[in-house]
Amino acid sequence: MIHITRREHFNAAHKLYNPKWSEEQNAEVFGKCANPNWHGHNYNLYVTVKGKVNQDTGFSVNLKELSVIIRTYVTDKLDHKNLNMDVDFLKDLMPSTENVAIAIWKILTPHVNALDCQLHCIKLCETENNYVEYFGEQ
Ligand code: NI
Repeated sequence: MIHITRREHFNAAHKLYNPKWSEEQNAEVFGKCANPNWHGHNYNLYVTVKGKVNQDTGFSVNLKELSVIIRTYVTDKLDHKNLNMDVDFLKDLMPSTENVAIAIWKILTPHVNALDCQLHCIKLCETENNYVEYFGEQ
């Protein structure tokens, strides 16, 4: 088994806001991230898959095909969108980096399996300093 990673990029807006809470409580927990009129991030998404090296190609996965899958099912749906309102697979989810990474894992799993490899890690960077890694555990 070998691990290989493809990076993709998207820009999106969101806010972190729990409608069950008061304005004060939201402001206390989420700070600037609860800004009612949204704010944006330049996200970097690193998709790591694992597989065996094919003797004919020397590849574990065709990165062009992996890139098309990530763009088609994930980044094209997120890029320049409002993560709270515009994305079918984020509906009813607080669009934290954690929740977005888990949702991306679920979306990509069947498509990665169809390439004869397995998803290993979704790393989603919201800022230069903050990122999450999800390996599929609950
Ligand atoms: Ni934010």
